[in-house]
Amino acid sequence: SDGRSLAGRHAVVTAGPTFEPIDPVRGLTNRSSGKQGYAIAAALAARGAVVTLVSGPTALAVPVGVTRVDVESALDMQAATTAALPADIAVLSAAVADWRVDTVAGGKIKKAPGGPPTLSLIENPDILAGLATPGPMRPSLVIGFAAETTDLEANARSKLSRKGCDWIVGNDVSGPVFGADGNTVLLVTRDGAEAWPRLTKTEVASRLADRIADHFAEPTES
Ligand code: C5P
Repeated sequence: SDGRSLAGRHAVVTAGPTFEPIDPVRGLTNRSSGKQGYAIAAALAARGAVVTLVSGPTALAVPVGVTRVDVESALDMQAATTAALPADIAVLSAAVADWRVDTVAGGKIKKAPGGPPTLSLIENPDILAGLATPGPMRPSLVIGFAAETTDLEANARSKLSRKGCDWIVGNDVSGPVFGADGNTVLLVTRDGAEAWPRLTKTEVASRLADRIADHFAEPTES
């Protein structure tokens, strides 16, 4: 596809981990370098899209042509993602923490002779499922990720229907992925699945951006 094939489209991309505070100095987080999401944001911008990248804490530089909104917690990520709407495209690649501590301590929790504290956790909102809910603000193409170690296609397909999104990028995490430059993915749509060979994260992003551009060029396809 040509270099301007997503001109006039707005894409919101989430990337990186979230950080859920326990107290002012401690927190819970997930393993995610953010590399795949950042590469997707860059690839969409390179095709002419206006890109809002909502990012948890990472060590990565803002890609050229991308507007980054920095967040820490899942609640902040959800608020920033919603605030970025309307969008034509949503690619939610962030590794959102499933839980947060229900009451964040205002001061540093002290080591006490009575032993370690018990943390009470509550569930974080599912940003992807919320964004994919039918309504006037729903992006027309909502893409999620599924990191799986087994049964990639079946798990990705059930996630697609459970979350109500349009495509799932199934991620085989049985090999080296975290922090690595390579990725093995399966693109699952409502009517099919496409296994991609092992590629670099940049190549995965480029292919995905091409598929997205094709989707908007041929509106009869999903
Ligand atoms: O449910 P699970 O974490 O396996 O789903 C992964 C997909 O859902 C990813 O696209 C991730 O960004 C998204 N997700 C989300 N909000 C959550 C949990 C996951 O947007 N709280």
